[in-house]
Amino acid sequence: MSRKTCILPGLILSVLFFMFSRNSLQGQTFFMGNFKSIKSSGMEVIIKAENASLQVRYYSPTIIRIRIDKDLSAPDFSYAVIAGPGTGEFKIQENSESVTLLTDSLKIGIRKNPVRVQIKNSKDRVLSEEYAPFGTGWQGPEISCYRKLFPDEKFIGLGEKTGNLNRRDNKYEMWNSDIPAYLSNADPLYVSIPFFMGIHDSLTYGIFLDNSSRTKFDFGASTDNLFTRFSVSEGPLNYYFFGTSTIAGILADYTWLTGRMSLPPYWSLGYQQCRWSYYPDAEVLAVAKQFRARRIPCDVIYLDIDYMDSYKIFTWNPKGFANPRALISELNGMGFHVATIVDPGIKVEPGYFAYDDGLKNDYFVKYPDGSRYTGSVWPGRCHFPDFTKEAVRQWWGSSFKYLVDPGVEGFWNDMNEPSAWGQDIPDIVQFDFDGHGASMKQAHNVYGLNMSRATFEGTKKLLNGKRPFVLTRAAYAGIQRYSAVWTGDNVASDEHMLLSARMVNSMGLSGLSFVGPDMGGFIETPTKELFVRWLSMGVYTPFFRNHAARGTNRKEPWSLGEGVEESSVKLISQRYRLLPYIYSAFYTSTQCGLPVARSLAINYTNDEKIWWWKYQEEYLFGDNLLVAPVSCTQNLARVYLPEGGWYRLSSGEFYQGQQEVNVEAPLEDLPVFVRASGIIPMQSVIQNTSEKPSDTLDLHIYAGKNSNSYVYYEDDGQTYNYEQGLYCKRLIQYSPSGKTIVIGKAEGAFASKFTKVRFLLHSFPALSSLKANGSSLSIQKFKHDVQSAVLPFTADELNIHFE
Ligand code: GLC
Repeated sequence: MSRKTCILPGLILSVLFFMFSRNSLQGQTFFMGNFKSIKSSGMEVIIKAENASLQVRYYSPTIIRIRIDKDLSAPDFSYAVIAGPGTGEFKIQENSESVTLLTDSLKIGIRKNPVRVQIKNSKDRVLSEEYAPFGTGWQGPEISCYRKLFPDEKFIGLGEKTGNLNRRDNKYEMWNSDIPAYLSNADPLYVSIPFFMGIHDSLTYGIFLDNSSRTKFDFGASTDNLFTRFSVSEGPLNYYFFGTSTIAGILADYTWLTGRMSLPPYWSLGYQQCRWSYYPDAEVLAVAKQFRARRIPCDVIYLDIDYMDSYKIFTWNPKGFANPRALISELNGMGFHVATIVDPGIKVEPGYFAYDDGLKNDYFVKYPDGSRYTGSVWPGRCHFPDFTKEAVRQWWGSSFKYLVDPGVEGFWNDMNEPSAWGQDIPDIVQFDFDGHGASMKQAHNVYGLNMSRATFEGTKKLLNGKRPFVLTRAAYAGIQRYSAVWTGDNVASDEHMLLSARMVNSMGLSGLSFVGPDMGGFIETPTKELFVRWLSMGVYTPFFRNHAARGTNRKEPWSLGEGVEESSVKLISQRYRLLPYIYSAFYTSTQCGLPVARSLAINYTNDEKIWWWKYQEEYLFGDNLLVAPVSCTQNLARVYLPEGGWYRLSSGEFYQGQQEVNVEAPLEDLPVFVRASGIIPMQSVIQNTSEKPSDTLDLHIYAGKNSNSYVYYEDDGQTYNYEQGLYCKRLIQYSPSGKTIVIGKAEGAFASKFTKVRFLLHSFPALSSLKANGSSLSIQKFKHDVQSAVLPFTADELNIHFE
């Protein structure tokens, strides 16, 4: 072949190749391409590939961040992340085929041609890797990361999502949405937490996709089980990888990065009563009085939208709530705290101060041409504050004086997806994004987070050292720093009750501890049976609020007919008995991010049975209780008890673990079990948390074979003085083999409200001697199978020996 004949086809081929590659870049799909160059410091490596760049940053031995974009020029800014990179560094190795970055726990392998990322643990086992044929790719502005799907891989998390505990074979989207009466497979809902954990081959890892635009997750739903995919609607693709070896460890790392809740007011752990709407003030008082007269414990009463004047935020309805200060002071006198709803829409009404202020100071979101966006919500035509602007957050926060001054202490943030009668606000609406500038596309999912932040920060200042209680419907990752979350407008049905357990557990797997549904269902009226069953679950739900929609029948515990009131007294009283245990569980959560309601996937990750659909609603409530939700039509339940031994809380009956059991489940007696060796502090029943319980802390200990330790925590429950050391924390250790129970010396300067401790030893063999710090104690038979002894609860170490 002559030289000429050889050049011509070559030329044609290169022109064709050029056209093809241009097309694939400009048109639709392209991938990273091959390695071109590397720039590295110990903390960060930037790899340029043919079509995009990849940045890997060291955060800690178990946390790294990967950022991928065509170029990396987009602002590096997050509303979720509060921790900066650590001081450690990667060890970097490079050869012609790959670059390897090592931390003490992880090995990040980046293959060069084409660029693909694989992450192994220190034992050289692959935790997660990109799907080799695609890696990371673009379709228009959308960037997707395709990852290998392991044959036995399971996925958990993603916050407030319906569906199964194991999210495999499903796909999900993050776009905060107001969906009243959502179906049990609806997606998306109100909250976006783009964080999930993967489990395969007894290995675990976590991925937090920190991008507030519309993101998608496909866990093999339509890929013949070849790969999974997560994607952002616009770049950068920015994710944190967590490589600790346990789910609890990953949650600790994730909440280190995005923050943990601070202790909420103790009263907010009590029972809360709500209805859309108690109106007027006389009705609020009448409801409150009924609680006290009927001796049904309750701490919080809510005012829904009708307390406002024409639904105008930061106003009071002059007809129905003419004297809010007097009303709230009377309620406070009865031991109630008041929470009011706040919606973001500000009524367009010249002369209304919030509207005038917002207009004058340019606080409302606008279209690109500078005109203000107007949408309709409760008050009619509204403008919407730009909560991504510091000045707006300050203004919003300080405006709570109109609620705090008369005595409101709870702030219920609603409609903050944001919702304009269930419609999305147009994408082109502009936001400050704390100086970075963004459109609704990026600001939508963080609107609720920033509204809640402004509410929390503002009311915390106004309450002068007292803790506010903040509740929100919409949220993004990191919301735990500011607010509790409820699961929106659910329905009074068994299906929704059971779904709520999965949703609460899933939120717990996503850094949120203070969560719960509208107990009894918001829309429609529950049957008596459903109400009682749901109430019995509510006792063991972190956020315990009864709420009902306008137009539904009354749902206060005495309104549902015969028998319900008696059951309610029993059940709500049990919540109040458990408060020392529940508060300690909240404390644990503030320290390490472990949720209060814990999916069994946290402690029993590798036990196949916990994943069975019929057991997937079960959860641990705190360290030592296992709750098995059951529909209200079932009087018998099949329950799976994981490893160890378990005692039925109501009867003391013992069951060996790692087996399925049939148990009775009468309406009031939800199957709840105590772990063998479990330690549960309880108190006497009180009618609200401002009432003092008896002077005795009941310390229930259930006989078991294994040693167990438990952190008991107490403080004033109202202020932040615990930050200055005013708390009382004690490590309680039970050693069956050493025959000892030790209550460690009290840490912290807070004097416990209890002056005595009563040991209630369940299913211990008949004791011949019980000694505390060497002196003999008298042993009482408390009831069948429970022996007890009472001791002073001083701050010193208490060493109990039993024979
Ligand atoms: C929304 C809330 C609901 C509230 C109602 C009226 O639907 O989700 O809880 O009662 O608005 O404010």
